[in-house]
Amino acid sequence: MILSTSILSADFAHLGDEIHAVEQAGGDWIHIDVMDGHFVPNLTMGPFIVDTCRRISSLPLDVHLMVDNPDRMIDWFAEAGASTLSVQIEACPNIYRTLEKIRSLGCRPGIVLSPGTPAAAISQVLHLVDLVLVMTVNPGYSGQAFIPSTLPKINQIRQMLAEIQSQALIEVDGGITSQTLPLVYQAGARVIVAATSIFKHPAGIAAGIAELRESVA
Ligand code: DX5
Ligand code: ZN
Repeated sequence: MILSTSILSADFAHLGDEIHAVEQAGGDWIHIDVMDGHFVPNLTMGPFIVDTCRRISSLPLDVHLMVDNPDRMIDWFAEAGASTLSVQIEACPNIYRTLEKIRSLGCRPGIVLSPGTPAAAISQVLHLVDLVLVMTVNPGYSGQAFIPSTLPKINQIRQMLAEIQSQALIEVDGGITSQTLPLVYQAGARVIVAATSIFKHPAGIAAGIAELRESVA
């Protein structure tokens, strides 16, 4: 299981300290939520933050683009040091070209589905991706409640990947706690994004990471 810690809930006044605490506690990836105020109502981080994280840490940077027309920004994020670069299928009219461009720039391509998007929407491009990110909340904010009806979709995507013998990883994002993590793990998710349950854990970042790991131990 790969824990991808979403800095959307980090204290940005102490971002370096927070990321170093994640490293020491055994977090695997840093998840960076890019929102443009159009595709989702919230407005967050750009390539500058990716570049900042790259200078702070050598952990893989897992960049989640929640933006309209991501094609115009892919180069910026690749150059800033993104390791994986995931785009929302709902925002990509030319998804084939988008995914090929991400790979050609040296990043691992991922495709993201919002809760209302069926698994069938990505069937034609599954062979092009390294990651399938199933949103388990509506994209836009951390701290939202997990949507349980996304679980059958995780299972369905696991089967679709097996059928084409793809090694792509299934990632989940939104409302992950020590209660919901066993459910998504059982359904087939192996990359787990969490913001609130790590950065806002009452006993601190290390306790948050430990509690998540123990829930599927
Ligand atoms: C939501 C973002 C998530 C968010 C998760 O749109 O994509 O990555 O940070 O936050 P939690 O873990 O608090 O649900
Ligand atoms: Zn995210």
